[in-house]
This record gives sequence, structure tokens and C-alpha cells, in this order.
Amino acid sequence: MQEKIIILDFGSQTTQLIGRRLRELDTFCEIVPYNKFPKNDPAVIGVILSGSPYSVYDSEAFKIDLNEIRGKYPILGICYGAQFMSYALGGNVEPANTREYGRANLQFFEKTNPLFEGFEENSQVWMSHGDTITRIPENFRVIASTDTVKFAAYQANDEKIWGVQFHPEVFHSTQGTLLLKNFVVNICGGKQDWSAASFIDTTVAELKADLGNDRVILGLSGGVDSSVAAVLLNRAIGKNLTCIFVDHGMLRKNEFQNVMHDYECLGLNVIGVDASEKFFKDLEGVTEPEKKRKIIGRDFIEVFDAEAHKITDARWLAQGTIYPDRIESLNITGKVIKSHHNVGGLPEEMNLKLCEPLKWLFKDEVRRVGRQLGMPDHLINRHPFPGPGLAVRILGDITREKVRILQDADDIFIRGLQEYVDTDGITLYNKIWQAGAILLSTVRSVGVMGDERTYENPVALRAVTSVDAMTADWAHLPYDFMAKVSNDIINQVKGVNRVCYDISSKPPATIEWE
Ligand code: XMP
Repeated sequence: MQEKIIILDFGSQTTQLIGRRLRELDTFCEIVPYNKFPKNDPAVIGVILSGSPYSVYDSEAFKIDLNEIRGKYPILGICYGAQFMSYALGGNVEPANTREYGRANLQFFEKTNPLFEGFEENSQVWMSHGDTITRIPENFRVIASTDTVKFAAYQANDEKIWGVQFHPEVFHSTQGTLLLKNFVVNICGGKQDWSAASFIDTTVAELKADLGNDRVILGLSGGVDSSVAAVLLNRAIGKNLTCIFVDHGMLRKNEFQNVMHDYECLGLNVIGVDASEKFFKDLEGVTEPEKKRKIIGRDFIEVFDAEAHKITDARWLAQGTIYPDRIESLNITGKVIKSHHNVGGLPEEMNLKLCEPLKWLFKDEVRRVGRQLGMPDHLINRHPFPGPGLAVRILGDITREKVRILQDADDIFIRGLQEYVDTDGITLYNKIWQAGAILLSTVRSVGVMGDERTYENPVALRAVTSVDAMTADWAHLPYDFMAKVSNDIINQVKGVNRVCYDISSKPPATIEWE
């Protein structure tokens, strides 16, 4: 059984970071809404209470019955988690005179505490709180203070309960990961046994048991998540997995053929469907971005359904859904702001059960699993690409000719990024989150080529750095690289006479132009 830590989410923006840090410590964890503790799960070895945007005194504040977990598991409260435990167990919490954000340094009252093993005196931590603990419950003791926070860390004398006012999960708490490791290993007795190899063994065994001899359908996109899901399922059930890869005609240059070839080399049973005719026809004359997206979404489901229906004995629909797609983050009104979105859309009468083998993984973990499964680097390190493809990178209406022009320009840009090795030995492609070209086909400008006047479209290049696509910054690409790419595009791609670089961050811009 895979041991795990449960993180109760009280709505803090950094709750996901706690999860990431634990996974970096090779420790499996689940983030669940504060009131959804899995009572009967024998694999739980410890519980972390996250921060929250609330004060314990707010009428809407998230509260739990601590008796559900107290005495049963070691508990670590972080920020609000620490305040709530203190408040609920007889201590006192009050609004601080000034809200405290930023760096602080810990001064310890005890030399050895299992939570702080290896900590330096004055260790830097990150604070972000409006309330402060003014009294801890009876039988609790303070472990560390800062200049302004008396109860920066506390422990119950006879119980495995700890609370810290600061955020160990954020980067600026320099020994924060050590604190989390101490909690997992010293206090919960965790074995740090979560690895890509162990994940593959456990998941393949579970898939075999769950799926038996059933037939499974999976939609491939060419992206990392669906590809890794497919290889994992293939290892578990082999030919009982049928993958469907729809070409809507707006993929990158040669991408359909290249990816189909990769899939075949991986031994996957893939049906490639060239549906480009239908998509181009339905998109004819459409210029409005949302309308383009809707038509593509609808057509995609139609094509996928038609193929899936041919596999009459299919019992399951598999998807490459990953953890960040599913985490229910709570906003301050308590509403779920991000919930599980199924991309399936298959008609109900097919009665397919859902199979999501990567549903517990973060993106970088999916890549680790893919590598462990022996998948080629170019599949694993592939940049994200939008479902509607180049359709949202062509301003104005879409024609085959425009797609061809954009594919050629994009190909020069992407190959250039893959070939340019930066001073630190890493290619530009692997240093950035995502890149692509955009055809500004609603704009024309004058140029001169040889003795000829040209009146053609510009291409914009976009390359961004990001960790999760929620925010992004434009990548500072080397000038010599940009000069070469610009030259190559204008010289080699007929129909383009100008190249611009998009220097907008997200927000306020988005990564895609439409
Ligand atoms: P934006 O443009 O919203 O993009 O900053 C954020 C990330 O999402 C990708 N993206 C999509 N992915 N279907 C997808 O599968 C879509 O319709 C879609 N639209 C945007 C985008 O490429 C970036 O990685």
C-alpha cells in the first residue's frame, strides 16, 4: 500500500505548493477540501492543515472537528492551520496590529525538536498573516519566535501536534523543505518511497485488476499527458487499448505523421483519423475567436464519437487528466473555482466508465513517469499546444494556405529553439515553457524583396516562461537567435515579409492570441 500524507485545504493559495514539496520529497500526498478527510483510509500516515484567506473569527471561516484526526495521526498546522488548532484547543488568536508579510527569522527556545532538526539559528521563514496567536493552549509550548511573532512555532507536550505561523512550503522559507521532511520522516515515520518506478508498478497492477479483459478507448493529442497515459495503459492491458488521434488539419508541420510514427514505435494500437476536410469546411469564413473554438470543439467530439462507436465492445474511456486539473481549490466565498473537467463528451448511451491513471500526478511527475517508461525525450519535453491548434494562432479566417504559411514559419522558429544550445548547455527549447508563431493575416505591410515591392502579412513570434501557464513572462531570447530566425522566416516563407516578437506578459495578455 502506498503510504500518504493528507493535506486539508483551507483555501490558501499556497496549498498546492505544500503538495509539490512533499512529492519532491518522494512522499505521496493528497490535497482534499478541509471537510473531506478520508476517515477510513489505512494508508494515511499524517495530516497537514493548510493556510486560509479567513480569520478564525470570520463567520464563514472553514472549521473542522479536530477529534476526527487528533490522537490518530501526527498533525502539522500551517499559518491558519496553526491558528485554528490553537483557537479550537483553548488558546487565543487576535488580529495583529499590522498584517505581517515577508521575511522573518526564527529564534529557538529548544535545541532539539524533531520538526526542526538541522535548522540554523535565525533561519529565514516567510510570513503572510493578518491574525496572530496570542496564547497557546494549555500543555502546549512555544518552540520558536520571531522579532514580531511570539508563537512562530509550537508543539503540544503530550501529543503529536505542531503548528507553525510561517509558510514552510514557499521558496523564501529557506529551510522549509527540511521542516516538511522532518515532519514526514521524523514524526510520521514516512519512508519516502514514492518514485516513478513504484508509481508505474502500483498503477499497472491496479489497472490490470480494474480493467481485467475490458476494452478501453483513449483520445491522444500528441501531448505529454495523453501519451504517457497511453503507454502506461498499454503496459497494463496491451491490445485491449485502442487510441484515437484526430488530425483537424491545424497541427504543427508534419506533426500528425511524426507523432503517429512515435506512437507506432511505442507499440500503441492507434487509429489516426484525418478529419481536416470537415474542420476546414466548418471554419470557412469564421473570424471570431470564440466561434472558432466552439466549432472545433464540436467537430472534434463528432469525429471522436464516430470512431469510438466503431469499437462496440468498449467499456472504458481513458484520459490523461492530471492532478492540477482536478484539485478543488476553494476561494474565499467557499465556491469551487476549479473542478474536474472531463474532456470526453462521449454520448451517455455508450455508458463508458472513466479511467484516469495520471490523476494524482503533477506535470513534472508525468514527465518522470514517461522517462521511466522509456518514452523518447522529444515526446516527454514537448511544449504544451492548444487543442484548437493553429486555428487560434491565425487572426481572421482560416484557410489551408494560411495554415501552410504558419506551419512553415512556426517550424523554422521551433527547430531554431531546439538547435540553439545556450551558454549553460541547455537548448532554448528546453528552457522555455511554450513557443509558437502567430500569423497576423488581418494585417498587411509593405516591404521590399530584391527589386520588388511586397505587401504581405507579418508573423509574430511568442515564447514564454512559466510554471503552470496561469502566469507567464515573455522569454528573453538571445538577439543573435532572433535575428537568424527572422531572416530565415522572411527569406523562406512566401507570404511573410515582417517578423515581430511578442513582449507581453500574462496577465494582462494571454499566452495564445485568440
Ligand atoms: P492562455 O492563452 O489562456 O493559455 O494563456 C494557457 C495555456 O493553455 C493552452 N490553451 C489550450 N489548451 N485547449 C487546450 O488544450 C485550448 O482550447 C487551449 N487554449 C489555450 C495554451 O497553449 C497555454 O499553454
